[in-house]
Amino acid sequence: MSAIETLLNRNSHPRLVAPGPDEAELETILRAAMRAPDHGRLRPWRFVVIAGDRRELLGQCFRDSLVIRGISDEAQLTKALNAPLRAPLVLAGLLHPVAHEKISRDEQGHAVAAALHAAQLAADALGYGCVWRTGGYATDPNVVEALGGDVGDEVIGFLYLGTREGPSKLLPEEPLESFVRYF
Ligand SMILES: Cc1cc2nc3c(=O)[nH]c(=O)nc-3n(C[C@H](O)[C@H](O)[C@H](O)COP(=O)(O)O)c2cc1C
Repeated sequence: MSAIETLLNRNSHPRLVAPGPDEAELETILRAAMRAPDHGRLRPWRFVVIAGDRRELLGQCFRDSLVIRGISDEAQLTKALNAPLRAPLVLAGLLHPVAHEKISRDEQGHAVAAALHAAQLAADALGYGCVWRTGGYATDPNVVEALGGDVGDEVIGFLYLGTREGPSKLLPEEPLESFVRYF
């Protein structure tokens, strides 16, 4: 598939099963992420790979995150515990902001988002399905710390990656005129 075809046809796919990307494919995905535009080349991103049994540990973090926030509903807690098991591999993209007089935290967050989208497209081009998720876990300092982040870091996205199960969603028809105007 050409780059343009990948760009025009990428679709999130929430039902993901093994196998996930292998070591070489994951390196390609991470290298694509590293090519994202990044004002000042601050490299304000950190990527954390969560695969295999480690997903259970992440699920425990998610569950704890809800408990800390006062949620005691068993169904929600169990859902959180099992959330990372929805794909063979989860890639967390963290904003690790760099102090800079001109380049704001927001702008650095955009660079991380661009990196995650590049990772998503690379995974798609390699034949894998992907879905970007956040939720309240992303900004919970306990989750960030468990992922090895520093104080002030934030998860910009958890990319769930794996082999697509079931049919893909249809791509929506979207008229460009609703979103584009010429100045
Ligand atoms: C910053 C960000 C956070 C997101 N968080 C979630 C999420 O927590 N749960 C979810 O189901 N989808 C989330 N999404 C949306 C999906 O990744 C996906 O884009 C959406 O389901 C639309 O599908 P599409 O990408 O095929 O158009 C998020 C997307 C972005 C960019």
